[in-house]
Amino acid sequence: MERKNRIVVFGGSGYIGKHLVKASISLGHPTIVYTRPLTSQTLPSKTQLYKDFTSMGVTLIQGELEYEQILEVIKEADIVISALAYPQVMDQLKIIDAIKVAGNIKRFVPSGFGAEEERTKPLPPFEVLLEKKMKIRREIEAAGIPYTSINGNCFAAYFVNYLLRPYEDVKDIVVYGNGEAKAVLNYEEDIAMFTVKAANDPRTLNKVLICRPPKNIISQNELISLWEQKCGHTFTKTFLLEEELVKQSESLPPPHNIPVSILHSVFARGDLMKFEIGEDELEASQLYPDYNYTSIDELLHIFRVHPLPPPPYAAFE
Ligand SMILES: NC(=O)c1ccc[n+]([C@@H]2O[C@H](COP(=O)([O-])OP(=O)(O)OC[C@H]3O[C@@H](n4cnc5c(N)ncnc54)[C@H](OP(=O)(O)O)[C@@H]3O)[C@@H](O)[C@H]2O)c1
Repeated sequence: MERKNRIVVFGGSGYIGKHLVKASISLGHPTIVYTRPLTSQTLPSKTQLYKDFTSMGVTLIQGELEYEQILEVIKEADIVISALAYPQVMDQLKIIDAIKVAGNIKRFVPSGFGAEEERTKPLPPFEVLLEKKMKIRREIEAAGIPYTSINGNCFAAYFVNYLLRPYEDVKDIVVYGNGEAKAVLNYEEDIAMFTVKAANDPRTLNKVLICRPPKNIISQNELISLWEQKCGHTFTKTFLLEEELVKQSESLPPPHNIPVSILHSVFARGDLMKFEIGEDELEASQLYPDYNYTSIDELLHIFRVHPLPPPPYAAFE
């Protein structure tokens, strides 16, 4: 029987990282999580997550984001998936250097998972984020490292929690822009499954995988109306218009200017759906037609039955 690729995940304890680790294990890959050393300050939730990982068969390797230590762990893997947090995006240069020297890595998936950095021209505070991710892509290409970039669009549970606040009894929902622009909301588990499948797929070599499944393209007004049907009552909408978002992105100090710039791009302007998928890009649900991804309707049903706790909104705090 062919040996399954060994996958090392950086940032595997993180918001999207833990879904990637679970997806890797569920698809039968020997999986390593490279994580910062546990200390007495480590949160009990993280210690518990590591116990869960270990019982699932994950190998935990503790170390810092330092070149020599990264090189050692990379030598033990075939595929590297990075889900490092946004502030650590440039630390991926050390991963790139280590992959170059190790010479054994068949595929590198850098930390991206959001808007397609080459195809979006948002307001400056968000643009700075995307430019760093683009710089990493250019470095990977220059190093000749086999890669796949994952454009997950919006993490669905993350944004449904942010927009609709299903975990509390709300009467009022804020709409960014006029609510008509189309966005794409993908369930985190599905983004993770698409990522691990793509990392092993010869068709995605040196390509961008865009997760744009038809059932997950939705405007904010449509999302609210679907949620109203599930809840059996209507909400008052407060519109935060595009000009107001632009003003806030100019007047708020960093990092508070970042969330409004993301909301402006995704929901007011509809940047995620403003471009056609190009020749060097692939669409995930077309590439994996047998994969039963979660539609927005199913996701809202999950939220209705078991409201998920809101995540810490790293970019939104
Ligand atoms: N599309 C979307 O809707 C969306 C939403 C949010 C984020 N994103 C993107 O998804 C990617 C991952 O974001 P995330 O929110 O999942 O990340 P996260 O949970 O904030 O953090 C991921 C991991 O990064 C590592 N990390 C954090 N701080 C660090 C530090 N100071 N030094 C070294 N390592 C550190 C940690 O791993 P260890 O503790 O194991 O070392 C952490 O678990 C980013 O590229 C982000 O921009 C996309």
